[in-house]
Amino acid sequence: MPHIRASGLAKSFDRTRVLHDIDLDLPEGAFLALLGPSGCGKTTLLRLIAGLEVPDAGQLHFGDRMILGPNRFVPPEDRNLGMVFQSYALWPNMTARGNVEFALKARRLPAADRNARVEEMLRAMGLVHLADRRPHELSGGQRQRVALARSLALRPSLLLLDEPLANLDAHLRHRMLAEFRRLHAATGTTFVLVTHDQDEAMAVASHIAVMDDGRIQQVGTPEDLYRRPATPMVARFIDHGITLPVTVATVRDGRCDLTVGDGALSLPGSARPGRGWLCLHRADLRQAEGRGHLQAEVLSQTFLHGRYLTHVLPQGLEVDSLSVAVDRPLPVQSRIGIDITGGWVIDRDPQGPRRTAPAAMVHAHA
Ligand SMILES: Nc1ncnc2c1ncn2[C@@H]1O[C@H](COP(=O)(O)OP(=O)(O)OP(=O)(O)O)[C@@H](O)[C@H]1O
Ligand SMILES: [Mg+2]
Repeated sequence: MPHIRASGLAKSFDRTRVLHDIDLDLPEGAFLALLGPSGCGKTTLLRLIAGLEVPDAGQLHFGDRMILGPNRFVPPEDRNLGMVFQSYALWPNMTARGNVEFALKARRLPAADRNARVEEMLRAMGLVHLADRRPHELSGGQRQRVALARSLALRPSLLLLDEPLANLDAHLRHRMLAEFRRLHAATGTTFVLVTHDQDEAMAVASHIAVMDDGRIQQVGTPEDLYRRPATPMVARFIDHGITLPVTVATVRDGRCDLTVGDGALSLPGSARPGRGWLCLHRADLRQAEGRGHLQAEVLSQTFLHGRYLTHVLPQGLEVDSLSVAVDRPLPVQSRIGIDITGGWVIDRDPQGPRRTAPAAMVHAHA
């Protein structure tokens, strides 16, 4: 269960930078989700950690041990890690049990221990009745579970998982997520899970690193990312967040006095005076009794979850539309007031060179 430290990792393919200056500091026994849109560099970062790619620059440490650095490259087989990748490869001529057992034989584990461990893994992954089948006799999801069982059987101190649940149906995915949580708690193994599904990340991870365009935007707990996004990308990406352009007048004790449209309010944030983004979620908007912070014209309504989801065009704001849940039907083109009941304010103009996250530094949950 190493403490993983990466600093300044960079990688290009064919002169195109796909990872820029990645810093990551992950405590022992953490469960990190690497989350971001397709093509942002998640798999490449995981392959660097695994030793399947060599970076152009940067260093990697597992605890005190330098894994990657000037004149140093520890090969994958000496990193004591398990991997399950997007394209997992099983031995085609071995059964599911044989696949799980193979690496344990190579480690010369006594037969009784080996068998016990194989059976435990087959049971945990729901594979007992499929143990004697070969990969071509299994579905994609079943093969993925064999690949997981095979990696976990080795009890690695670091387990790297690249979209391991992508081929599973919703029911099985929930079961496997629960199994990940259980294994993580029971073994103390450090998990790094790549996913583009934020619900999946939130369901299992103690820490989430949001990536975009080859950079880590922010590392934090699920709640940090939701309530205190570091960048507009994170604010919009997490749970359909909304960013509204605002002007910050003064900042005192972490609270920002700001104007949005022609409304004034005070909210927490990290912004400096000047142009800012107010980051919020639909739950932070509600129809005002009176004039409200914003005035808006009703565009359309949809009845959803017992309320009327109302799409409105706010006045005096450079945004396309907002959605607010209200209790009654409203005529199209009528005007309503909207109150903003929460949110987090960040700078709109980047500060200096673009190193966004408040240093990608994370701390373990107590
Ligand atoms: N071997 C390679 N040669 C050239 N370009 C590559 C190579 N591997 C990845 N890339 C490019 O690097 C970028 C990052 O790819 P990566 O596979 O890390 O993305 P990802 O975040 O895992 O995406 P996805 O969610 O779709 O799996 C992409 O633009 C991809 O096309
Ligand atoms: Mg990928």
